[in-house]
Amino acid sequence: MEHDAIAVIDFGGQYAHLIATKVRRQGVLAEIRQPEDPIEAFHPYRGIIISGSPALSSYGEDSGYTKEIYDLDIPILGFCFGHQEIAKHYGGEVIHGGREWGKADLHLTGPSKLFAGLGPTEQVFMSHYDSVTAIGPDFEELGYTPAASGASEHRFAAIGSDTLKRYGLQFHAEVDDTVNGDRMIANFVLDICGCEPSWSMDGFLDEEIERIREQVGDKSVFLLASGGVDSTVAAAILGKALGPDRLHLLHIDNGLMRKSESKQVVEMFGRLGLDEHFHFCDASDVFLEALEGETEPERKRRIIGDTFIEVFQREARELGIEDYLLAQGTIYPDTVETGGTTRADTIKTHHNRVPIIEEMIEHGKVVEPLAELYKVEVRELGERLGIPAAMLNRHPFPGPGLGVRLLCSDGVADTDGFDQIRPEIEQKAKQFGLEALLLPIRSVGVKADLRAYEHPVMLSGDVPWGDVIDAVSSITGEVPGINRCIWNLVAIHPAEVRPVAGTVTHERLDLLREADHVVMEALRRHGLYDDIWQCPTVLVPLAFDGADGELVVVRPIRSQRAMTAAPVELPSALVQELRDSILNLPGVGGLALDVTSKPPGTIEWE
Ligand code: XMP
Repeated sequence: MEHDAIAVIDFGGQYAHLIATKVRRQGVLAEIRQPEDPIEAFHPYRGIIISGSPALSSYGEDSGYTKEIYDLDIPILGFCFGHQEIAKHYGGEVIHGGREWGKADLHLTGPSKLFAGLGPTEQVFMSHYDSVTAIGPDFEELGYTPAASGASEHRFAAIGSDTLKRYGLQFHAEVDDTVNGDRMIANFVLDICGCEPSWSMDGFLDEEIERIREQVGDKSVFLLASGGVDSTVAAAILGKALGPDRLHLLHIDNGLMRKSESKQVVEMFGRLGLDEHFHFCDASDVFLEALEGETEPERKRRIIGDTFIEVFQREARELGIEDYLLAQGTIYPDTVETGGTTRADTIKTHHNRVPIIEEMIEHGKVVEPLAELYKVEVRELGERLGIPAAMLNRHPFPGPGLGVRLLCSDGVADTDGFDQIRPEIEQKAKQFGLEALLLPIRSVGVKADLRAYEHPVMLSGDVPWGDVIDAVSSITGEVPGINRCIWNLVAIHPAEVRPVAGTVTHERLDLLREADHVVMEALRRHGLYDDIWQCPTVLVPLAFDGADGELVVVRPIRSQRAMTAAPVELPSALVQELRDSILNLPGVGGLALDVTSKPPGTIEWE
């Protein structure tokens, strides 16, 4: 092996690949390894990092993997599940309990190589059910969180042994919410493992161009170009690798695009000079017909993904393009959230990971130049490829488009378990001066690496932003079955809520398109578009207090890699503009702001 490298053992945590990215940021090659890989596979590495895991618990049962790694004389660092495994292997104890979610303060208890240059308190990001309550004789505690010190049994948030070169962190140093996580990873990789940095984005670009040429041979590629950042950067790198002549682009208007978006996409590819073989197809009717009557989110996603391929194959036939590879701008989160790595849970099926595509991938018929990257890196690569900043900084827009922002219902209230949790929710909201209403529908979220299809709560009351956020973390963190909270932007707290029947129709899509347009224009007018990472607008088929209009939810968030996200407070003048415009749209009866972080909510609602 030419580069000094780190092995990241992927136990299926949502962040396993992010760990590899963060290691690469230090200029050190990182490669993903499977838990059952033979011990020889680990020999070439200078260090090992063990990821978190959704399926396995260190508590009680013995989890099967290549435990001989502990006999190797190279440093090992574990995050979350990895932390618990290391503690257990060297004589510590793990219990089922001590759940923590979200940001926490880590208090460092003494000097250590892992935390060199940090402390005494560090903001870290937690997402776990099990906890380490005892450590073996060779280990010392390196840090704790207040929740742990207040518990009946002490919980270890950071442990280590400089002699054994084994370290464990209960939190996720790889996510951006652990403010100095990069420094911790650098300390491990560069200092403790002694790796020499030799990986770079320029190097990646050169290697990727070579890889594309090798995979494609003398065939052509046909890329589905949505106009989003990912497929645009994919088009640019493919154009560079193969030349414009062998690159066909197809933009499909699936009827789920934003207002005037398809028109803008066509113009954009012209400006980029990538329109030599640019094809456009209006397939809105095909998509809407396929989605007719469907209300279940995963089935909607599958239908959209399958229809893309159907339309694509039909177009290829009609254009007489044969012997091509399908190119996609898939980025890493699309794969991991679809459950596409060996052990990851399916949070949601991304449109570019439906079964037909998986089959084509198996037959080597798909080329995905960005599949290893996250959004920030795609933007960085786009810059190197000369794509203008205005295009790279467009908000991410999901492949299934407004399809995942148009919630559907058969009109039957889903109120399972409401009677048990209502009093606790109301009481928690009240502590912050808020009133709470449980909503009889569900949305997708992610909790401790697992898909959570649970209920949102609507909070009403004119209280400071900080109190709203505290109420949300108290409710989503402590009440089972709740993964999302929204803050009512209408002055009155509704007494009653009911679902209204609604599926994917032109009328509802037009209404959502209009509301989304209002939000985007308002963000631009207030100079907030670039400051906010993404801002989905969602149409929710719920009506309040006997009226008929549906609920519109606006979800402004900050993020870097979409694996975590934080809700953003909007200025009151902007909120007033949204009230004035959106509540006046015919068919709208309510307006709220999504105030949930990810986890436990996801950015999109479906
Ligand atoms: P979630 O909702 O999982 O979204 O927190 C993370 C990021 O991914 C986008 N997203 C998608 N992008 N195809 C895509 O290309 C999809 O099927 C898809 N689903 C979600 C989402 O907008 C956010 O930026």
